[in-house]
Amino acid sequence: MFTHDWRPSSWRGRTALQMPSYPDSHALQEVEQRLSGLPSLIFPGEISQLRERLAAVSRGEAFLLQGGDCAESFDEFGQEPVESTFRVILQMAVVLTYAAACPVVKVGRIAGQFAKPRSSELETQEGATLPSYRGDIINSSAFTAQARQPDPFRLLTAYSHSATTLNLLRALAQGGFADLHEVHRWTADFVRSSPQGARFEELADRITESLAFMEACGFDASRAPQLHAVEFYTSHEALHLQYEEALTRSNERTGSWYGGSAHLLWLGERTRQIDGAHVEYLRGVDNAIGVKLGPSASPDDVLRLIDVLDPDQEPGRLVLIARMGSDKVQAQLPPLLRAVRRAGRTPVWCCDPMHGNTVTSSNGYKTRDFERILQELLGYFAAHSQEGTYPGGLHFEMTGQDVTECRGGAQELTDEGLSERYRSACDPRLNGSQSLELAFLIADVLKAARR
Ligand code: PEP
Ligand code: CO
Repeated sequence: MFTHDWRPSSWRGRTALQMPSYPDSHALQEVEQRLSGLPSLIFPGEISQLRERLAAVSRGEAFLLQGGDCAESFDEFGQEPVESTFRVILQMAVVLTYAAACPVVKVGRIAGQFAKPRSSELETQEGATLPSYRGDIINSSAFTAQARQPDPFRLLTAYSHSATTLNLLRALAQGGFADLHEVHRWTADFVRSSPQGARFEELADRITESLAFMEACGFDASRAPQLHAVEFYTSHEALHLQYEEALTRSNERTGSWYGGSAHLLWLGERTRQIDGAHVEYLRGVDNAIGVKLGPSASPDDVLRLIDVLDPDQEPGRLVLIARMGSDKVQAQLPPLLRAVRRAGRTPVWCCDPMHGNTVTSSNGYKTRDFERILQELLGYFAAHSQEGTYPGGLHFEMTGQDVTECRGGAQELTDEGLSERYRSACDPRLNGSQSLELAFLIADVLKAARR
């Protein structure tokens, strides 16, 4: 099935699910042409570096932390949302690094996470039915017929927002903010007064003391770049294939192709059909590739996907992201871990404890319970311990902002509380306090798993 040549456009010969249908195909072509002349957002050397880091994860020598919005939005765009998400990922990473004495590879769902698969084509509100919202790269979440019409010029806005976000992320990662000497400044004001905030301050004190101790012993921190900057990588679901194709570039050094829109691209649960367009596109690019695996994924499905996406068994190529649901993880995950191990494959295994645990609150909000998220994570670690495989990473929908979208946690958010600051246009995210709380809860489990 996969003996034919791959080209950036060869996906067009396959069935592409979850893609918009544009009323004006000439406008779409014009936009594709313009995008293909714009600079790549990332560089092939960065992809190789991420893949080296992921290869270390697959050997059990590091841990992957991937997180960010369900869907970025053109309206909630600016310095604050990006900076606050970056700062919480940094805090979570420090908590895990410290507890488990393990390097953490940091990847944001950011700078391009604009296209959404939907379970239903249509949405009904108060008797009126319109096409579903599919992410800001496609249409707008406002509930009017015009807003829900797919508009190809949104691809250019998505590109420019991604470029601006990436520029800020590079500055935050390299420009002093992420310096470990600044660890006390990473906590947002609203988190500082919470129990997690206090716990983080204690940890920050210990890190500051350790640095002072090492420097007093003669260690020259100015010569250790790892203390002053972090590596931060971007990722999104490679759903909008015209966008991805238009940003595909050839690596002149190697003659191979890479997706220029993000370092890691993932296949969603709804678009991982082995003969589908999304698998076809992703098999040909050099990027690190994620694959979401829900409870319907069989061991055979997973082995076939591995064969197609990583035929040469390249280290750091694949991240398998299980999102089973807290009630299914114990039954569904071990057979997949076993089959992959028996096939001699060592992808990075990652757990998304969000997408199998979405429910509707009594007052009509799409939400998730902190407790079920934690239960799925614990089930994931238990499954790996049982199968002798390495639980290599976590994948979250989170934000650094003080939103009220997921129930529970130390804040004990209830159904009534959800309406206060529910801002997500798509799935509910953990807020800054809940994210940090989860990192502390998981840190000890990770430490035990690494022993
Ligand atoms: C997502 O990550 O936002 C998503 C839609 O996930 P999945 O494909 O696992 O449902
Ligand atoms: Co989501």
